[in-house]
Amino acid sequence: PKDVGILAMDIYFPPTSVQQEALEAHDGASKGKYTIGLGQDCMAFCTEVEDVISMSLTAVTSLLEKYKIDPKQIGRLEVGSETVIDKSKSIKTFLMQLFEECGNTDIEGVDSTNACYGGTAALFNCVNWVESNSWDGRYGLVVCTDSAVYAEGPARPTGGAAAITMLIGPDAPVVFESKLRGSHMSHVYDFYKPDLASEYPVVDGKLSQTCYLMALDSCYKRFCEKFEKLEGSSFSISDADYFVFHSPYNKLVQKSFARLYFDDFLRNSSSFVDEVAREKLAPYLSLSGDESYQSRDLEKATQQVAKQLYDAKVQPSTLIPKQVGNMYTASLYAAFSSLLHNKNSSLAGKRVVMFSYGSGLTATMFSFQLREGQYPFSLSNIATVMDVSGKLKSRHEFTPENFIQTLKLMEHRYGAKDFVTSKDSSLLSPGTYYLTQVDSLYRRFYAKK
Ligand code: ACO
Repeated sequence: PKDVGILAMDIYFPPTSVQQEALEAHDGASKGKYTIGLGQDCMAFCTEVEDVISMSLTAVTSLLEKYKIDPKQIGRLEVGSETVIDKSKSIKTFLMQLFEECGNTDIEGVDSTNACYGGTAALFNCVNWVESNSWDGRYGLVVCTDSAVYAEGPARPTGGAAAITMLIGPDAPVVFESKLRGSHMSHVYDFYKPDLASEYPVVDGKLSQTCYLMALDSCYKRFCEKFEKLEGSSFSISDADYFVFHSPYNKLVQKSFARLYFDDFLRNSSSFVDEVAREKLAPYLSLSGDESYQSRDLEKATQQVAKQLYDAKVQPSTLIPKQVGNMYTASLYAAFSSLLHNKNSSLAGKRVVMFSYGSGLTATMFSFQLREGQYPFSLSNIATVMDVSGKLKSRHEFTPENFIQTLKLMEHRYGAKDFVTSKDSSLLSPGTYYLTQVDSLYRRFYAKK
């Protein structure tokens, strides 16, 4: 098969949200801390009637309907998630309900888990399958679904929730450059979920930032090496039109792109690094690797010199992550969706570099070549189907008090059995799945609005 990649996409995020400005004031944080300091505008969250299963049921159904895909045409279904609902039964098996009713139970694939990286693992599994000898000619389907919630404290405003679905096959408008992957994986306790009774992670926020930037450097180095070997010329940020990052909060994305700029400066590889920038960055040439991750002056200087390029190459992918928050496994692909939404018809012929990071840690940098493609699998149709503006506009704002109340209820519900939900679907749009009941054997029941 040729040009294997993403044929179609859809995104779902809960309509329930809280403004970061309001949360900031409520938490007694200094004005601008969440909106400018973290760079976030708004945060989506699940109420008691939604969870990672309902969100993915909604997103999969919507993709199949909107692109008119016969469920029998799916041969592999891979789910990426780090939200644990069951330690054995995969989210994938819940989604099988949608395929069984059409008589298709011949679908490979299960869940992949490692923090925010599971979605990328699921995506690679599907792409590798289509490119392999065991491919049977049908589509692969990838689902990234997470609800990111944190205990009270500085990490809480970096939550979010969403599900993304991606249809995988040949002749795609979003083509994988499969030879160009740079990974970095290692053993670190920066963010993990050892307490199985709680949905909240144990997180060392500062360490996770440093780990993210170190992994970025390492992946970029390997990505550049592979590019050089393959193309015979060196890679720099000028060789890609867009850079899309896993987005826990926007400030880290700003820092990440600035870091790539600094890497290019150190390697002396980018024509973008002009005289003025060279002068500004020269004082930092002597820093050791470790020192460079701790230097706030360097961070500020690189962000300043990279600002114009950031606006052109990164900013178009930041819309949904700023509006919805960290969606863990869905975060990188929601950023990519934002790019398709903002630039759809102008993207043909462009290269996009993607950076996936999951704490613990696993990270990969990879790239896409974009082509307009044939309807319904075209860049402009994907943008139309996702209807990002419509979904953002039809949201409902909760007060910080109501948001916190909701999280309190969810703390009790996590891991619980024998309850019915309010079944209140009034805030959900038609076609949305929602949780109605968890019975005395922990079995979960959903309805569709
Ligand atoms: N106006 C403008 N900016 C402000 C203000 C203000 N009033 N107050 C603070 N800031 C800035 C700070 O200067 C800082 O920016 P800088 O890094 O550019 O200097 C930023 O706001 C954050 O403030 P801090 O005090 O440094 O950090 P805080 O203690 O609030 O924690 C953190 C932030 C670590 C991101 C926390 O939210 C967290 O732990 N989140 C979860 C972990 C995470 O997302 N890690 C990322 C990778 S792993 C993953 O994806 C889960």
